[in-house]
Amino acid sequence: MLKNDLLLRAAKGQETERVPVWLMRQAGRVLPEYRATRAKAKNFIEFVKSPELACEVTVQPVDSLGVDAAIIFSDILVIPEAMGLPYQMIEAKGPWFENTVKNKTDVEKLRIAQADDLNYVLEAIQLTKKELNNRVPLIGFAGAPWTIFAYMIEGSGSKTFSKAKQFLYTQPELAHQLLEKITQSTINYLQAQVKAGADLIQLFDSWAGVLSEKMFYEFSLKYMSKICDALQPLVPVTVFAKDAHYALEKIAETHCNTIGLDWTISPKNARQLAPNKTLQGNADPCLLYADEKKIISETQEMLRTFGKHRYICNLGHGLYPDLDKEKVKLFVNVVKEFK
Ligand code: CP3
Repeated sequence: MLKNDLLLRAAKGQETERVPVWLMRQAGRVLPEYRATRAKAKNFIEFVKSPELACEVTVQPVDSLGVDAAIIFSDILVIPEAMGLPYQMIEAKGPWFENTVKNKTDVEKLRIAQADDLNYVLEAIQLTKKELNNRVPLIGFAGAPWTIFAYMIEGSGSKTFSKAKQFLYTQPELAHQLLEKITQSTINYLQAQVKAGADLIQLFDSWAGVLSEKMFYEFSLKYMSKICDALQPLVPVTVFAKDAHYALEKIAETHCNTIGLDWTISPKNARQLAPNKTLQGNADPCLLYADEKKIISETQEMLRTFGKHRYICNLGHGLYPDLDKEKVKLFVNVVKEFK
């Protein structure tokens, strides 16, 4: 039995004594101990593939920030790799794929990933569950099919993802074939994460915001919805579609439990659009550059507007590497002390 199950109860719509809090990218470069562990690996990919090191950095923010959940240290790009499209993580630049998907032959060459291909993540989850010793729940995750597709076509990060969008407009049928393959791979992967011990699953659709509303429903939400169905009733599922508040009402129609919000929507509007779901978010990570007084007042105002019920506190996106750890801790403590 979990000693602290606030996150799971909030996700399921049950009452909680206080609002649970965790942070996207909490295992990362704001923590000096993360940098020390990362230095033990040859590069980012070796780091992700080492269950012991992944376990170490997953637990660090639980100890040093006092958050109410751990999120397994990995990356969304392990799926393209397992499907046959390897990547590199270039220092200070981000992901880079030597080969990208351009045509039908490329799509046909890709495999549907099986749980075994990602054993190193499953081992990291098992180790972490032992190490956490039921202190807090462990969140598993994957990229949403559209976001994974975007990297597979584009081959790197991009402001517009115009190559990936060009593919949707010019080869829609082939796009659906690839999205279907990614979805199947992701379902295999996430069901295995749950079997290995993940208590809740979050889907990251980081590039939802580059799509129009209509394109989002056709090429993104449809596939996230399939993944939600495949995980019910095993564990609660969170859908985080960044910059897609235009689609909140439709996201609320899927079988997810929680909707993650970025800072571009007000808590009040979000509640009106998705009254039947738990909401997660949505402080601007840049708020944590402000002085202490401002961090406290803005965080309290956010907590008051969301209300204590069906709410998980988080930022609207991941922590930035140059944020001050003490201010991150302050944010967490303001939430934990809020009455
Ligand atoms: O949240 C956590 O603490 C868990 C770990 C986690 C990482 N990546 C580790 C990581 C999670 C949940 C992710 C998801 C991820 N990866 C997303 C979706 C979330 C989001 O931010 O929108 C995306 C788009 C990626 C792809 C990716 N990985 C990019 C674009 C980059 C480079 C940019 C950056 O933030 O550094 C990464 C690298 C990465 N993934 C790092 C970490 C801790 C930094 C690598 C380092 O240590 O130098």
